[in-house]
Amino acid sequence: MARNKITIIGAGNVGASAALWLAPMNLGDIVLKDIPQTGTMPAGKALDLAQAGPIMGYDSRILGTTDYGPTEGSDVIVFTGGFPRKPGMSREDLVAKNEEVVVDVMNEIKRSSPNAIVIMVTNPLDTMAYVAYKMSGFPRSRILGQAGILDSARYRAFIAQELNVSVASVQAFTIGGHGDEMVPLARSTTVGGVALTKLLPKERIDAIVERTRKGGGEIVQLLGTSAYYAPGAACAQMVEAILNDRKLIVPVAAYLDGEYGLKDMYFGVMAKLGRGGVEEIIEAELDAEERTALNKSVELIRGTMSALKQVRPA
Ligand code: NAI
Ligand code: 2OP
Repeated sequence: MARNKITIIGAGNVGASAALWLAPMNLGDIVLKDIPQTGTMPAGKALDLAQAGPIMGYDSRILGTTDYGPTEGSDVIVFTGGFPRKPGMSREDLVAKNEEVVVDVMNEIKRSSPNAIVIMVTNPLDTMAYVAYKMSGFPRSRILGQAGILDSARYRAFIAQELNVSVASVQAFTIGGHGDEMVPLARSTTVGGVALTKLLPKERIDAIVERTRKGGGEIVQLLGTSAYYAPGAACAQMVEAILNDRKLIVPVAAYLDGEYGLKDMYFGVMAKLGRGGVEEIIEAELDAEERTALNKSVELIRGTMSALKQVRPA
């Protein structure tokens, strides 16, 4: 039986971290693809990761390359190629630079891996997932974005620390765009089945929600670049859910065609992940406050989308 092929576009911080988490899962072979200007770097990282196999007990084959050849026929592609935001760079600058990368790479992917499911990571996430979808011509089920698993993980980690409980006991989700206007669903957050609103006063919940919203920025301040261990882990969870057909319900960025009354945009929603990619979108019931927060998040994404140069929203 043919082994699954997982290609990671971009062997930088997030790409290499995704490979590090994925390798022990023994899901298939991993190809780390970067641009020719990176020389032998992808091959070096891949060899290093392969040599951890005997220690960690995995047999995933890992290959680093700057050619598309080895990526051909990929089952899943994790797209981290492009640029993180650097000091002095506006959101529009980042949109323009990464739009170019996504357009170029998707042109290659649709030729070399026409049946792949593509998990977008490159920022601004919702907008870049939109570009990938429009460029690929793939069905919406096969182009999705990673953001909600990471944002929810940050939210869950903060709640677990606050209450001194295991992260496994915290059920919590964020929806909306991957930005400071994301929508953590505090009302539906439970800890061991008990509503968070019964366990913490409103000010503490509000503070945790605010820290979650700014979670990406907090890491940039500490690290001087954006996060990669947790983003890589979130990608690995999505790849596993897809390849093992888990039917896992998690927040992902998906193309909306009427859900929440929204059309022609990518947005973080709860979705069922399986071998078909996004197999179902599940709409959460929102109260007025959550709906207002969601609308603000929509506005932010639409603003970012308006900076696109090559792919124009309808
Ligand atoms: P990085 O700079 O460490 O790595 C990016 C890699 O992409 C570099 O090695 C670069 O050579 C490569 N690359 C550039 N153009 C390419 C192309 N055409 N084909 C293949 N590879 C190409 O950056 P990092 O930290 O890995 O971040 C990558 C992206 O992911 C950024 O846009 C960042 O903002 C985003 N990000 C998104 C998160 C999310 O939750 N959605 C979380 C963290 C980062
Ligand atoms: C994060 O949330 C920057 O998207 C990146 O860490």
